[in-house]
Amino acid sequence: MKALVLSGGKGTRLKPLTNTMAKQLVPVANRPVLFYALDQAREAGITDLGIIISPETGEWVKEAVGDGANWQARVTFIPQLAPAGLAHAVKTAQDFLGDSPFLMLLGDNIIQGGIGQFVQEFHRTAPAAYVLLKEVPDARLFGVAELDSTGRVVSLVEKPKEPKSNLALVGAYLFTPRIHDAISQIKPSWRGELEITDAIQRLLDMGEDVRSHVLEGWWLDTGKKDDLLEANRVVLDDYLRRQIDGEVDATSQVAGRVEIRKGARIINSTIRGPVSIAEDCQIVNSFIGPFTSIGARTVIEDSVVEHSVILDDCVIKQVARLADSIIGKSAKVIRDEQTCKAIRLFIGDDARIEL
Ligand code: DAU
Repeated sequence: MKALVLSGGKGTRLKPLTNTMAKQLVPVANRPVLFYALDQAREAGITDLGIIISPETGEWVKEAVGDGANWQARVTFIPQLAPAGLAHAVKTAQDFLGDSPFLMLLGDNIIQGGIGQFVQEFHRTAPAAYVLLKEVPDARLFGVAELDSTGRVVSLVEKPKEPKSNLALVGAYLFTPRIHDAISQIKPSWRGELEITDAIQRLLDMGEDVRSHVLEGWWLDTGKKDDLLEANRVVLDDYLRRQIDGEVDATSQVAGRVEIRKGARIINSTIRGPVSIAEDCQIVNSFIGPFTSIGARTVIEDSVVEHSVILDDCVIKQVARLADSIIGKSAKVIRDEQTCKAIRLFIGDDARIEL
């Protein structure tokens, strides 16, 4: 069995972060979100991984993943020249996939507890396709499945105006090679994409068996600002373990599940977990509150930071309380006591400031 992990696309909804990084490399608990998808494929026993990349961000993805040694897997990067849809990505990967059954994962989604049990179920029941579903409050934003009374999938529609159920397709699919026939028979949707949802509907129209499982645990799609903060919160809450490899001075307090990586220094500060502090950070005279991740080499002085994701190489000084925020790489947020009546900004395209 092979895995195809989708790490192309545009990342428009996460601008400005995605002006300089792939959306699948945005960190959740100080790890690129894509790495969780690769972990999940590997934990399901798959060692042959294909990764779809785009011309704009592909080199960054290649650099971050390397040769796959961290996952003891063989990695093949597959360039997709335009983000023409999830089914188009499968078509692009046809040489890599050959006639193998495969697991397809979206590189910006994380599923609680992984997908090993669903891979086993797929092998045991041998349908043409197997999809994972999750009840959502607003199904119009997703691919939506309608099930019959026995739980079999009877129809699938991509982002319907009037959803027939509240069951969204989450970013994990298992396919036999029959999907390639189905893809060859579909046309681009109203949004101009070859939709995998339409291809699975085509399988149903061809009389093939499509099975599903409704997830009980969480499913995180990190495509937007609030989703990313939520993903960071949930992953820190569920997975983070206490591990202090950096230095904490005698006047600092570190409470609860806190990760302080090598080279980081905590000086006269309080860290209340769950918090992840990456390599070579400096936290001085500050309070870092729960559900915060701080990227490598960031400096925080005389500030309070809570429920936020701060990327690498930032400087935050004298900020009374920074909360619910995402701060991109090398950004500076500094309060100047002398000019506290004025707000002076030098910010890039697509930035959002809430005062
Ligand atoms: O998040 C779940 C939803 O994902 C499903 O409910 C929908 O049925 C499915 O179509 C998909 O919808 P989105 O509109 O949210 O997909 P998005 O454009 O965000 O793409 C998902 C991932 O796939 C993302 O990591 C980028 C990557 N991608 C996307 C396209 C369109 C590619 O690698 N190539 C592409 O051509």
